[in-house]
Amino acid sequence: MSENAEHPLREMFCRVAPTYDRLNRLLSLGIDRRWRRLLAREILTGSPRRVLDLCAGTGDLTIELARRAGPETEIMAADFCPDMLERARDKAVRRGLRDRIAFIEADAAELPFPDGRFGAIGIAFAFRNLVYQNPRWERHLSEIRRVCAPGGRLCLVETSQPRSRAFRFAVHAYLRLLAVPLGGAISKTPADYEYLGRSARGFLDSESAARMLEGAGFSEVKIRPLLGGAACIHTARRHAP
Ligand SMILES: C[S@@+](CC[C@H](N)C(=O)[O-])C[C@H]1O[C@@H](n2cnc3c(N)ncnc32)[C@H](O)[C@@H]1O
Repeated sequence: MSENAEHPLREMFCRVAPTYDRLNRLLSLGIDRRWRRLLAREILTGSPRRVLDLCAGTGDLTIELARRAGPETEIMAADFCPDMLERARDKAVRRGLRDRIAFIEADAAELPFPDGRFGAIGIAFAFRNLVYQNPRWERHLSEIRRVCAPGGRLCLVETSQPRSRAFRFAVHAYLRLLAVPLGGAISKTPADYEYLGRSARGFLDSESAARMLEGAGFSEVKIRPLLGGAACIHTARRHAP
């Protein structure tokens, strides 16, 4: 059995890697870029010395961080899918930012960093994968907490559930009728986009996600809804020990 076959989510992300960026731009009409920019600003608030982009994928958030951070800030990008990381690395080379970023192949369930390593951790559009019907969700949260410095910050952007029932209905219809079929057709992996659509429709609303962060040892949780609550930025601080 290949290593990937033991981990279905990793296998899935490696399959969608070649079309990931193109589909992101198409399915979000480019708005995902603006949301990562907002997230990068949050992550760099207070000029943390070490920053981790966890589940970095093709590196869009990492690149944004490397562009904005001062030279004293160390930036690391971790993901368990080598195909995604390869694309992230290429992107950093093309932008002249390769020397600013350390790329690390790692599973969020077993992060290869010492306790309290990062002053800030960012996760863009992957928190859902780490916790939604994921048997290792508690492990992921405890690893994130472990590598975050006491008093350090966790900043997420993730899809969410709009409060307005009418708008939620519209967003779910968009996912079912357009995003999933189009994503499946272009990536030629329809089952993968079924999962992505299903997990987006079934994912936590922003208040429940905030409670999950509190339960995982974070406080001062702040919620910033985006596009009528279709997505959301959460920021939180790790309790001092
Ligand atoms: C939806 S993509 C988001 C990628 C990127 N952060 C972005 O903003 O486009 C989810 C990423 O999380 C990674 N991922 C999912 N579960 C992971 C885990 N347990 N450990 C490390 N990476 C993981 C996948 O390989 C994939 O690259």
